Parts: sequence; structure tokens; C-alpha cells
Amino acid sequence: MSKLTQVVSKGAGQINPVNIDEYLAIGGYDGLKKACGMKPLEVIEEVKKAQLLGRGGAAYPAGKKWEHLFHIPETPKYIVCNADEGEPGTFKDRLLMSKLPFKLIEGMTIAGYVFGAKAGYIYVRGEYRKIQRTLQEAIMLAKGAGLLGKNILGRGFDYDIHIISGAGAYVCGENSALLNSTEGKVGRPRIKPPHLAEVGLFLQPTLVNNVESLCSVPDIVIGGGDAFKALGMPDSGGTKLVCLSGHVNHRTVAELPLGKATLREIIYDAEMGGGIPGGKRLKFFHLGGQSGPIGGPDLLDTVYSHKELSKAGLSVGSGAVVVMNEDVGVIDYLLGVTEFFLHESCGKCVPCREGNKQIYKILKKLAQPGAAVPADLVLLRRLVTTMISASFCGLGQSAAVALNTAWKHFKEEFEANVDKSNSGAAAAA
Ligand SMILES: Cc1cc2nc3c(=O)[nH]c(=O)nc-3n(C[C@H](O)[C@H](O)[C@H](O)COP(=O)(O)O)c2cc1C
Ligand code: SF4
Repeated sequence: MSKLTQVVSKGAGQINPVNIDEYLAIGGYDGLKKACGMKPLEVIEEVKKAQLLGRGGAAYPAGKKWEHLFHIPETPKYIVCNADEGEPGTFKDRLLMSKLPFKLIEGMTIAGYVFGAKAGYIYVRGEYRKIQRTLQEAIMLAKGAGLLGKNILGRGFDYDIHIISGAGAYVCGENSALLNSTEGKVGRPRIKPPHLAEVGLFLQPTLVNNVESLCSVPDIVIGGGDAFKALGMPDSGGTKLVCLSGHVNHRTVAELPLGKATLREIIYDAEMGGGIPGGKRLKFFHLGGQSGPIGGPDLLDTVYSHKELSKAGLSVGSGAVVVMNEDVGVIDYLLGVTEFFLHESCGKCVPCREGNKQIYKILKKLAQPGAAVPADLVLLRRLVTTMISASFCGLGQSAAVALNTAWKHFKEEFEANVDKSNSGAAAAA
């Protein structure tokens, strides 16, 4: 029986993305219509029941976030959609926005209704130029149909959505950097607290949610939170869009009920990854993007859910599943990962700015026979610990996660080129 499902992505690829009648014909806007007949707290209650964990990477419970913001008295409140999708190996928000732009607009409009907001912003990564145009067209069509703008559904509720283009910085996916960038400031993370719910966009209370999280909201409202939760696990409800890439036969986005498939099924089943090209063996998989953990073949039978992955030292993150075959060297792969973070570090804090640089230098040495000494490995471990514990924002805190987890599975590859006879030499990173 197929493990694939189409709930959040229902209609993607089957309807014309910028034809509002086609969206209405598949039940589009039923969620907004129902929500507008409910009290805002009743909608929040359904989001809480749904056990929707944020789909942007941090897996923060959406219901808890919504409830907290609701009880903040200051107005105006803003709704912000994180559509930066900068995590390498992640391309599921692209699918939702390009194929179902009205679904995101509907989810954001429900949020606008719940929080009495007058404006929402979609922060779209700069590279997604075509998607920005698609969203803009969908916004105009929704306004023309009385589903956005003035007097939505004739209920005296006014709410507009604006598109903001990113400029290609990965750190702008971090929610406070994203808000700075939206305000026209340099896209660097803010000190927290104060939290964005209290002091967010233009220093006002703000909701920041990922595209997939907001696209789940209409389904939660239509079917009820309990039904959405039942699709997945009691502590992590609903479905997840998983992005398969790397050495798999099908590089694709697959929507799966959480907790119903193993990593082995995701990578090898014909309807999902379809296995590794050329019948090669799996070396490792990298979950949740470059900032996520690496796992080896021994973890293939782990069930894909937040709890089960976490028990195995893995995580869902953004939903990326990057597969690497037996030909890939772990040190070479980590050099690519570290180069990415070296490039994307905003430079604000020392552990991340300098840590990535030093890790890169040590990895370069580890890639050459005899260039590294045992003290380099000691320094590498210290750098990893320092970055994870002392970096200012999530970028630096997670930049060494791949390395840290790869160490557990492939320690021998770190040690392979080390000149063990040179045990007295100091590390020269
Ligand atoms: C460096 C960095 C980059 C991030 N990039 C993204 C991103 O591209 N898209 C996203 O939704 N969340 C991203 N996040 C997570 C956001 O900060 C935030 O947790 C998320 O937008 C909240 O929405 P959610 O609860 O619906 O997941 C990133 C976090 C960090 C630290
Ligand atoms: S961890 Fe520090 S240097 Fe790295 S991106 Fe965040 S604030 Fe910038």
C-alpha cells in the first residue's frame, strides 16, 4: 500500500496555480470560510490539537506560538511567512508556492483573521523570482475574488499580503534576521529576548511561520485538529513534505504521514527515492539540510517522525533527505558543508565567524595524507563544542552538527590521514 499522501499538497501539479476557480473547485478557501465563522481562540484550539510542529526546521509547536501571540495585547500584529528556503537540499516550499500559491495565501489570511492583523508579509528567497511573480498574481486574483484586501468575505475584515524578496543570504532565514531584512536593515540576527511574538516586525507583535506550516492551517481548520493529528503521530501531527536529493533515483518531494515510513522506505521505495543509482551502497544520509545530522546505514530502519529520529540522534529539520553513495568521502563532504557555512556566516559573533574558518582548515589537513597531527582532532572536537554552545544564533549553533554526527559514525575516516607518529606536535590550524 502506498505510503504517499496528498493533504497539504493536494492539487499541486493538478490545477492551474493561478486560476482561483480551479483552487476553489478542490475545496480551496473552505478553511477561511469556516475559520471566519469561528472565534479566533477556537481556531487556535484546533491548531493546538493538530500538534503541528513548525515545518521550517526548529519544530516549535505552532499552536503554542499562536496562543502566546494571541494573548499579547499590543496591536497592530503582523503575520510573516518564512519563504526563504535557504537550506540546501530543501525545495518543498518551492513546490507549494509555485503549484499552490492560494493555499499559502489562504493560510496566512486565516492567521490574519485570528490575530486581527491588517498586513502579512511573505519573505521569499531572492532566487525564486518566478515564484514571487506567481504569488503576486495570486494575491491580485484573491483580492479580485473578495478573499483578500478590503472586507474579506463581506465580513468587514481587511487584510493585505505583501511580497518581500530576499537577496541570497542564508542567515536571513533565521526569523529575527528575516525581520531585520524585511524592515530594510542589514539581515543579521537580533538579540532574544525580547521574543518576536512581543517585539517583532516594526517592533510589533509578530507571527513568523514557515510556508508548509501555514499551508497546513486550512486543512487543520477544515477537518479539525484531531483529524490532522491522527494523520501522523500523537506528539507530531499531520504530514511532512520530504525532499529527496543526492544519490537517489528520484529527486523529488514526497508528502508522507509522520511516523508511518522508515528512512529505508523513503530512500529505497520505488514511489519515493527509488534506491541508489547503479545499485551502489548507501554511505550516509544527511537530514534536514546542511545544518542537520548525518546518519549511517545502521539507522535506516528509524521511523521518520520527530520523536523517533530524535531518539536516534537525527532530526526532521526542514525535511531534506540528502543521500550519499559509497563513493563519497566523509571528509570531502564535510569540507563542502563547512565551505557553505563559512560563506554564509554573517560574522557577528566569534564562535561562528572564526570557528567555521578553523574547522575548514583542519578538514583540509585531514583530507591530505600525513598533513594533520592528533592534536588537530582534539582541536576539532573543541571547536565543534564551542560553536554549538556559544554561537549567537542558530546558524553557528548548527553549523557543526553534521561534523559532530559524522564523527560518531565515521571516526575512522577522520583518523585515516592523521600522522600518529607526530603526537607531540601542536595543532596548527
Ligand atoms: C540560519 C537559519 C536559517 C533558517 N532558514 C529558514 C528557512 O529558510 N525557512 C524557514 O521556514 N525557517 C528557517 N529557519 C527557522 C526559522 O528561524 C524559524 O524557526 C521558522 O521560520 C519558524 O517557522 P515554523 O515554526 O513554522 O517552522 C532558519 C533558522 C536559522 C537559524
Ligand atoms: S552564529 Fe553569529 S556569526 Fe554566525 S550567523 Fe549567527 S550571529 Fe552571525
